[in-house]
Amino acid sequence: ATTLGASAQATGRYFGTAVAAYKLSDSVYSTILDREFDMVTPENEMKWDATEPVQNSFSYGSADQIVNHALAHNQRVRGHALAWHQQQPSWAQSLSGTALRNAMVNHITNVATHYKGKIYSWDVVNEAFADGGGGGRRDSSLQRTGNDWIEVAFQTARAADPGAKLCYNDYNTDGVNAKSTGVYNMVKDFKARGVPIDCVGFQSHLNSGSPYTADYQANLQRFADLGVDVQITELDIAGSGSAQATTYANVVKSCLAVTRCNGITVWGIRDSDSWRASDTPLLFDNSGNKKAAYTSALDAL
Ligand code: XIL
Repeated sequence: ATTLGASAQATGRYFGTAVAAYKLSDSVYSTILDREFDMVTPENEMKWDATEPVQNSFSYGSADQIVNHALAHNQRVRGHALAWHQQQPSWAQSLSGTALRNAMVNHITNVATHYKGKIYSWDVVNEAFADGGGGGRRDSSLQRTGNDWIEVAFQTARAADPGAKLCYNDYNTDGVNAKSTGVYNMVKDFKARGVPIDCVGFQSHLNSGSPYTADYQANLQRFADLGVDVQITELDIAGSGSAQATTYANVVKSCLAVTRCNGITVWGIRDSDSWRASDTPLLFDNSGNKKAAYTSALDAL
């Protein structure tokens, strides 16, 4: 096939991108979006600060714009993210203990209920593990409400939207390392105890060559072997030319080699849309032209 989405579909997978609501009126942007991609993730519009700027007062305008655009263009939606230590509204940042835990549960219930039936998979919890060699949880106000905050978040999301796949999502978990092993042990424990979890997202904010490693595929596979789907959720790869193109192809091939790797999402469309624009990490240049990385990713599908 001649587009990322159609080629991914031919393998039973999807190819998605992060979308910003305010860019939907840019026709260069929306033309590429609707031609190439069959899954969208709101880049910021479903985060806690955007959806609940005032406690228990919900604001869905920008996220609804993206969801409505997607559903009108045969694209599915990855919801991102229900519980995260970043991009919290200031009122939540000032809470702790039971008040914060209750606010989290209320938030998840409201957002997942608002989008019930419209979300393919939710990033229920984002970035809850610490970097470095310890393999443990990140210290955060949510973590300090009790170690069970993650399973409570998943149970709450399941109750609100039983049809959505529920994912844990993180970065620097893209190879076999202490952090990914910490997540692996949590997923294994959740499966053993019946805590609802369906998928693990690997953000994959990479650089050309290293730190993409040969064990990228092995890491996806060990999670899949626990009985969850794996998804590449925020792919971008710093660099240019053939080095970048080769790394994109390697990531795509790794996903295709893992039966339960059911989709890839890039974190934006043009380099100028990227949160790390100076790394030129995406598949289209600032004018919307296909880069070598695009052709390489498409050919690998
Ligand atoms: C980033 C967005 O791309 C930026 O626009 C925003 O300013 C900060 O957040 N991990 C995640 C994403 O899970 O939500 C982040 O997105 C990038 C890192």
